[in-house]
Amino acid sequence: MMEKLLFLHIFLFCWRSLNALFTVEAPKSLYTAELGSNVTMECIFPVNGKLKFRDLSVIWEKKDDVRKDVYVLLKGKEDSGSQHSDFQGRIKLLKENLDLGQSLLQISNVKLRDAGLYHCLIEYGGADYKTINLKVQAPYRSITQEVISTGDKEWKLTCQSKGFPKAEVMWQNGECQDLTNKANTSYETGSDQLYRVTSTLTIKNRTRENFRCIFWNKETQENTSANLYILDSTDDVLWTESRLRAFVWPILIVSVLVGSVSITVCIRKAKANKDCRTRMAKPSINITNMQIEKT
Ligand SMILES: *[C@@H]1O[C@H](CO)[C@@H](O)[C@H](O)[C@H]1NC(C)=O
Ligand SMILES: *[C@@H]1O[C@H](CO)[C@@H](O)[C@H](O)[C@H]1NC(C)=O
Ligand SMILES: *[C@@H]1O[C@H](CO)[C@@H](O)[C@H](O)[C@H]1NC(C)=O
Ligand SMILES: *[C@@H]1O[C@H](CO)[C@@H](O)[C@H](O)[C@H]1NC(C)=O
Repeated sequence: MMEKLLFLHIFLFCWRSLNALFTVEAPKSLYTAELGSNVTMECIFPVNGKLKFRDLSVIWEKKDDVRKDVYVLLKGKEDSGSQHSDFQGRIKLLKENLDLGQSLLQISNVKLRDAGLYHCLIEYGGADYKTINLKVQAPYRSITQEVISTGDKEWKLTCQSKGFPKAEVMWQNGECQDLTNKANTSYETGSDQLYRVTSTLTIKNRTRENFRCIFWNKETQENTSANLYILDSTDDVLWTESRLRAFVWPILIVSVLVGSVSITVCIRKAKANKDCRTRMAKPSINITNMQIEKT
């Protein structure tokens, strides 16, 4: 214990003077991990020739309000007793890489509270450390939607999803007009720390129209969206499948008669929607994730 305290003391107060002789590098200073996934953070240090394991000390610590030990190896010996309970059972240092001068820390089943600043400290002849930032996110992947008629030609459209960090909800109609300022969005947090986001848009005096809610996660630059469609009248919603089937033939015949007109309208509407979607499709999850990885 004394030895360790002395060791840390050397690191935190004297590292500058030792720094000139021995340098630790962090190839990436920012990692973004998805909730529940595994992340491996890396520091590199100089090893000249074969690694003398007994001379090596590796410490990974998290800089919260209090300092928390994540992984401790002192003079070639693992000290699992000092590991903070936040990390128990989820930490692995990839020892085979130490020979190559890589200190790789794997955190499995990443939690939201793992987000923050980490120090990787290494003593091997000299001593040095680097700081690495870990961000944790939970994408708003599945959106629950609901369309309720609240009166004559009045509709309540609701989109709901869960994620982290806080997302804004934007609304658009089929012509890509922004309706966000007509919507009401509320946020709740549960014991899992995720945001439960519910957004409701009230539509009056409009029928047969497409709407779209977009969950915009500003921090991760990620958009997910859902389409909602409102029908002609309250009656439409109450149609059962069998009633629909009974109406299919008359509707088809009428459609053929009125055909050209309504088909043109449909195509035009679909086209408007498609253009909007193409524009929206650009910032898809995969692309933006790749951008995050690069930075
Ligand atoms: C994450 O790490 C754990 C423990 O090392 C392992 O069992 C699991 O398969 C890993 N999951 C993924 C997705 O790599
Ligand atoms: C949003 O909700 C609040 C409380 O339920 C309500 O008072 C307010 O009128 C709503 N605003 C809009 C634009 O619907
Ligand atoms: C509803 O729309 C009709 C025609 O589009 C219009 O004449 C009427 O004034 C609108 N009513 C309201 C309450 O906006
Ligand atoms: C996500 O959608 C919003 C609203 O349409 C837009 O302003 C924003 O630029 C989009 N995000 C990205 C990364 O393109």
